[in-house]
Amino acid sequence: MIVVGAQWGDEGKGKVIDLLTKQAEAVVRFQGGHNAGHTLVINGQKTVLHLIPSGIFNDAKCIIGNGVVLHIPTLLDEIKSLQTKNINIENKLLISSQCPLILPTHILLDEARENALGNKAIGTTGRGIGPAYEDKVARRAIHLMDLLDPVIFKQKLRNLMSYHNFILENLYQTPSEDPEKIEDLWLSFADIIKPFIADTTDVINTMLVNKSNVLFEGAQGSMLDIDHGTYPYVTSSNTVAGAASTGTGIGPGVFNKILGITKAYTTRVGSGPFPTELNDENGKHLAEVGVEFGATTGRPRRCGWLDIVALRKAIINNSISHLCLTKLDVLDGLDKIHVAVEYEISGERYSTMPNINKDHLSRCKPIYKQFEGWQATTSGATSIGQLPEQAKQFISSIESLLSTKVALVSTGPDRKDIIVLDKIFN
Ligand code: IMP
Repeated sequence: MIVVGAQWGDEGKGKVIDLLTKQAEAVVRFQGGHNAGHTLVINGQKTVLHLIPSGIFNDAKCIIGNGVVLHIPTLLDEIKSLQTKNINIENKLLISSQCPLILPTHILLDEARENALGNKAIGTTGRGIGPAYEDKVARRAIHLMDLLDPVIFKQKLRNLMSYHNFILENLYQTPSEDPEKIEDLWLSFADIIKPFIADTTDVINTMLVNKSNVLFEGAQGSMLDIDHGTYPYVTSSNTVAGAASTGTGIGPGVFNKILGITKAYTTRVGSGPFPTELNDENGKHLAEVGVEFGATTGRPRRCGWLDIVALRKAIINNSISHLCLTKLDVLDGLDKIHVAVEYEISGERYSTMPNINKDHLSRCKPIYKQFEGWQATTSGATSIGQLPEQAKQFISSIESLLSTKVALVSTGPDRKDIIVLDKIFN
C-alpha cells in the first residue's frame, strides 16, 4: 500500500503510517528529504521525524529508498534521539546506497536562490532539497555509496563543491564553503552509517515475494509535486504515488491500494496559489485549534476550507483508492462549514483543478457547498456512532463528492484518536 498526502503536505501522514505500520513488515520512504516533518504523539510524548519513516516506533523495518535526498547530519541526529528514547533501530533501519547526498552547499544555494527571488520566493524549507535534486538530474550527485570510498568521495566532493562555490560567489555573491573543512567530518560519518546501508530494492523485493505487507510512505503532498503540483510553488520531487516505484526500484505492478490523506480542511506553507484560503475568523479558528505551524520550520501554515476540486485532481494523479480524513475535530464548534466543489475561472466552471498557470489559479473563485457545523466534540472519537449527525453527513458527502471511500477518520493528535471505517490493509 502507498500512503500519500492529497493536499499541500502536512495532512497528518505520520500518525496514519504509525497506525498502519502495526500491520506492516516494512515502511519505506521513497522521495523528498528532511523538508518533511512527521509529528507523532505516543502516550503524550511528542517526536518529530524528518527522514526516518514514522514506522520506527513499531517492529517494522524502516527503509529509506533511492528517491530520497539524504542529509546525513539530520539522519544522525534522529538516530541519536531515537537511541536516547530507547527505540531500537539496529537491523530495523536500512538506507539505499543510491540516495543522493545533500551537502552544506546545497543548503547555501537554496538560501541564496530564495533571497535572490525576493517577493517571488517559493518559501522553501531551506533544506537544500531543490539544489540536491538538480544535481541528481544533472548527473553530478554524490551518492551514499560514494561515502564508503574515501578517495572517490573526496574527489567527487571537491568537484561538486567547487561548482557550487563558483555559483555562490559569482552569481549570488554570498559566502561559499571550503570542502576541506567538511570532507573529514563527513568521512567520519561513514563508520556510523555503514551498518544501515543496503540494496534496499533487493530487500523490498524479497519481502514482497514473501507476501509481506510493505507500506510506502509519501512525503509532502500531491499539490507540491514537481510535475502535477502548483508549479513553480512546489517541491523538487515527484510526490505522487508513482514515485513509490521510481524511488525504490520496485515496478508499478505491485502497488494495489493507495491511501490519500486529507485534512477536513486545507493548509499550505510557503507561497503559491491557494483558492480556498481564509483570512477571516474561520481561518483563525482552523489555525489556532489545528495548531497549524510547520513541523520542520515552525512557520504558520495558511488555512482554508476543504478543496474538493483539488482533491479530485489528487485522486487522478495518485490513483487514490481510499481516503483518510484527518483533524475532523478541528471543525468542532464552527457554525457553518464550507467545501469548494467547483472553481470559476474567467467565467468557466471546473470540477477538477485544471492545468492552467498560477496567475489564473490565483484568480479562481471557489464555488462552495455549505454544511451545518456541529456544536459537539468529536475529539478523541473512536467510532462513527460517537460523531454528531452533522459530522457523519459531512463525511458521507465528501465520499460522494469524490466517489472515494473514507476508510479512516482521525479525531485528535494521539495514536488512539482514530475511527476505522474500512480495514484497508487486508
Ligand atoms: P522545498 O521542498 O524545501 O524545496 O520547499 C518547496 C515547497 O514545498 C515550499 O512551499 C515548502 O513549504 C513546501 N514543503 C516542502 N516540504 C513540505 C512538507 O513536508 N510539508 C508541507 N510543505 C512542504
